[in-house]
Amino acid sequence: MFGKKHFVFDDIPDLSGKVAIVTGGNTGIGFVTARELARKNAHVFVASRSKERGESAVELIKKEINKDAVEFLQLDLNSLNSIKHSAETFLARKLSLHILVNNAGIMATSFETTQDGIQDQFGVKLFTILLLPTIKASAPSRIVNVSSNGHTFVPSGGIEFDKLNDPNAHTSFQRYGQSKLANILFTHELNKRLSGTNVYCNCLHPGAINTELTRGMVDNWGFWIKPFLSVVGFFLLTPDDGALTNLYCATSPEIEEKNYRARYFIPFGKLEVPSDYGKDEELAKKLWDFSENLVKEKLGDDIFSKCYA
Ligand SMILES: NC(=O)c1ccc[n+]([C@@H]2O[C@H](COP(=O)([O-])OP(=O)(O)OC[C@H]3O[C@@H](n4cnc5c(N)ncnc54)[C@H](OP(=O)(O)O)[C@@H]3O)[C@@H](O)[C@H]2O)c1
Repeated sequence: MFGKKHFVFDDIPDLSGKVAIVTGGNTGIGFVTARELARKNAHVFVASRSKERGESAVELIKKEINKDAVEFLQLDLNSLNSIKHSAETFLARKLSLHILVNNAGIMATSFETTQDGIQDQFGVKLFTILLLPTIKASAPSRIVNVSSNGHTFVPSGGIEFDKLNDPNAHTSFQRYGQSKLANILFTHELNKRLSGTNVYCNCLHPGAINTELTRGMVDNWGFWIKPFLSVVGFFLLTPDDGALTNLYCATSPEIEEKNYRARYFIPFGKLEVPSDYGKDEELAKKLWDFSENLVKEKLGDDIFSKCYA
């Protein structure tokens, strides 16, 4: 469907001395991303909400590739306090951070809110911002935001900020679409704050992949959908192929050589242009201010005081 592979595992350069965090690294394309970074000698943190699932992924990776520098980092994106605690736990280690892959996600779930009362498909990027000083100090470094071509399933206007917490305002796919559009807009606005640095921040659609992502649809619509998903699964990419665009953005020397910043990639590491809303600078700024205010409201005004220095 996406043609010849522009990037394969063998193209990942040696990552000795590099430190990486992969959110949602316990399964799906996050697992493969973490595994392949570790295979090329990066010190990898599998950031996962479930201790059990996270630790068993770490053990599996270590066993599969016979490397030890893989660790579990507890991170539940459904709680701002967990995000803050997770970033602090990592920062306390006083390591560098060369690669952050913001991969965790849910799709088409029924309406739920996070512990902080924010609609749960609409994550805010607090984790990245708290790690930013270290990412900058570790440059050249990369931030990879995993979006989706589902960023086009949005209501008119792109993101309806005043309706995000209204359970009846949007379909489950519109909630997903808005969160994936937010990934792209966040990439743009963050990139502006990275000007003059060697931090390369990009976003991507990884392809349609056979992973556990459809769990949300089963919970939302019922088990009758399972046989249908099994048949569809047959035509989807494997998680190995689905991780290639993550790995391209995280490691390919081309990103620095071609000075790719705030770009949107599709499989397998091919440049693409997002929807018009995905290029809307005003919407990106609005999202940034909205998210920042929301976090400040919950965690205090000085939460970002040291992050942009
Ligand atoms: N699969 C596709 O066809 C497809 C298409 C386009 C975009 N994507 C994007 O690719 C990314 C990876 O998806 P995938 O297909 O690999 O799905 P997956 O197999 O369901 O993996 C999703 C990962 O995100 C984690 N996660 C979910 N909510 C979390 C939270 N609150 N805190 C911390 N971690 C959380 C999950 O942890 P648990 O295991 O604990 O739930 C899991 O590790 C997502 O951002 C998705 O939107 C996927």
